[in-house]
Amino acid sequence: MKNSNKKKLRQSPFRILKNNLRMVFKVARLTPDYFISMIFEGIVWGFINAAYSVFTVKLFDALDMGKPFSECAVIIGCMAAFYLFAYGVDAWYWHYYNPLVKQKLHLRLHRELFEKAHGLDVACYDDPEFYNDFVWAMDESATRAAEIIGDIGKLINRIVAGSTLFALIFTIDYKVSVVLIVNAVLYIFINQFANKISFEQEKEMKPLYRKRNYINRIYHLQDHAKELRISHAHDLLMDEMDDNTDKMVACARKYGKKYFLLYGIFNSVLGNVIYFGVMIYMFTRLVDGAVLVGAFTASTGMIWQVRWLLSDFVERITKFPKHSLFLEKYYGFLNFESRTVSGSESAPAFETLELKNVSFKYDFSANPRYEYHAADHTEKKNESEGTYALKNVSMKLNKGEKIAIVGYNGAGKTTLIKLILRLYDPTEGEVLMNGVDVKDFKLEEYRGRIGSVFQDFKIYAASLAENVMNGRYTDADRITVEKALEASGFGEKLSALENGISTTLTREFDDKGTNLSGGEAQKVAIARVFARPYDLIIMDEPSSALDPIAEYELNRAIADYAADKTVIFISHRLSTTRMADRIYMFANGTLEEFGSHEELMAKGGKYAEMFEMQAEKYRI
Ligand SMILES: Nc1ncnc2c1ncn2[C@@H]1O[C@H](COP(=O)(O)OP(=O)(O)O)[C@@H](O)[C@H]1O
Ligand SMILES: [Mg+2]
Repeated sequence: MKNSNKKKLRQSPFRILKNNLRMVFKVARLTPDYFISMIFEGIVWGFINAAYSVFTVKLFDALDMGKPFSECAVIIGCMAAFYLFAYGVDAWYWHYYNPLVKQKLHLRLHRELFEKAHGLDVACYDDPEFYNDFVWAMDESATRAAEIIGDIGKLINRIVAGSTLFALIFTIDYKVSVVLIVNAVLYIFINQFANKISFEQEKEMKPLYRKRNYINRIYHLQDHAKELRISHAHDLLMDEMDDNTDKMVACARKYGKKYFLLYGIFNSVLGNVIYFGVMIYMFTRLVDGAVLVGAFTASTGMIWQVRWLLSDFVERITKFPKHSLFLEKYYGFLNFESRTVSGSESAPAFETLELKNVSFKYDFSANPRYEYHAADHTEKKNESEGTYALKNVSMKLNKGEKIAIVGYNGAGKTTLIKLILRLYDPTEGEVLMNGVDVKDFKLEEYRGRIGSVFQDFKIYAASLAENVMNGRYTDADRITVEKALEASGFGEKLSALENGISTTLTREFDDKGTNLSGGEAQKVAIARVFARPYDLIIMDEPSSALDPIAEYELNRAIADYAADKTVIFISHRLSTTRMADRIYMFANGTLEEFGSHEELMAKGGKYAEMFEMQAEKYRI
């Protein structure tokens, strides 16, 4: 493992160049204005930076040669006008123009990432390694791209300014220019080393930062506010935080020592020895009368400036291997091929749905094409061998039927739904719609035929109407939304809302927003399946947060609304499922038995046992 990590850190110059150039081309394509202006800025400011020294040498020359004051004043005047103009343009560029184009780049890069994330296998989110890289790509891509282009602009600037000044120094004393080159080479090595340290540090810190963010989130989000106050989780979290902080401090100490040795001792000693060495040398030449005071003053000033330009140049150029490592992760993410690929056939109107010998494992090695972690996945593969969430399930559902799936927690009910929705594909066996493997259908079209509400539904920080439409809302949808909310039992609450369906849900962005109760939120989620003309409706424990009356009403609403629709209803409360045409009883990932309520009761199997147990509880 260690070896392979080291191998990943070592990159050939070609690889570094290739990775960075790819990003440069990408930025040039996405935001040509940003790219061109940055290059232009680099060149122009290169000359502006060098201009100061050129003016000074000219001024000293004029003084040395005993030119009249008026001539010197003209040089100073030119210098002032030049800088006034240059700073004006600079302020406009950096404070007005650059932030605008940067935003544009940010938006375009993120759009691409979000599109990619949208098409990702849900399985990717189960894989912490993948998730880490994903978060990293999201966090960093835009700033990193801007940084790369910024660095290139600055590199051009340093080259233009540096070589102009270097040429000036060369004409004064070529030996000094040789010393500067040696200095630059040494600095390249120092920086190369610093970048390695910094990348390793970042890698070590990343999971620690994630943990810190997680704890932060727990304290600032509303989700945990109640439980945090009435449980002992606070103490546990504080322990975790202390532990995490200790690790961060240890990490900072470990790398801080390395940085100090490198910069504080090696670099600063080296830099000063060279600078003062050159100064003493030039001074001896001045005493010898080989150079004039003007040339001495200007050149020592320039040495300082060139040294700074060189070190900055080197610092920036040695950032490119680091950029390259990041970019490989980024491209790895963008090139990741989802397993859940869309088919090419149009999804027809629903007639039948059939599961044929379906088995399924949650297998994190589901990402073999994600090269970066290939080694880790082979290890995990062995661990997860043999844990089936569903085993050899076969069932068939016809248009218009209402079926129920029942079973204890962890029986595999939700997993079954995920397979039907193609959030995952079966490990073995197939899911067929109208006799055709659902993998053959266009994914969006196929999913678009199915309306589903999950146990862990989510409410968006958006208007109630947008939440019900589960997307964009226009005034033409008003009746639909209101009817759907009425059907899901939200009607009473709706009439109490001042802004009706325009009410913003959650208070995340709106002080006047509404926070719904668990049951109310569930009703909004249920309304979603009523708001669009789905062929098949799937409800995964939709009444878990509802009170018995609301549950009864919901069942009636489903019966009314979905009289001619096909419905899969999941529940572990058997009283709500007894009216179904067929009931499928699951236990430990296998289909135990199925039939109507009466048939299953008469059979006296697992279903009858579970039903009796629940009935007993209700009687008490
Ligand atoms: N994302 C996941 N990764 C790994 N295992 C999972 C995941 N989701 C569910 N499981 C496991 O699959 C089994 C079935 O889960 P699920 O279908 O959610 O059960 P049910 O809905 O019947 O309560 C459980 O053992 C659960 O731990
Ligand atoms: Mg479930």
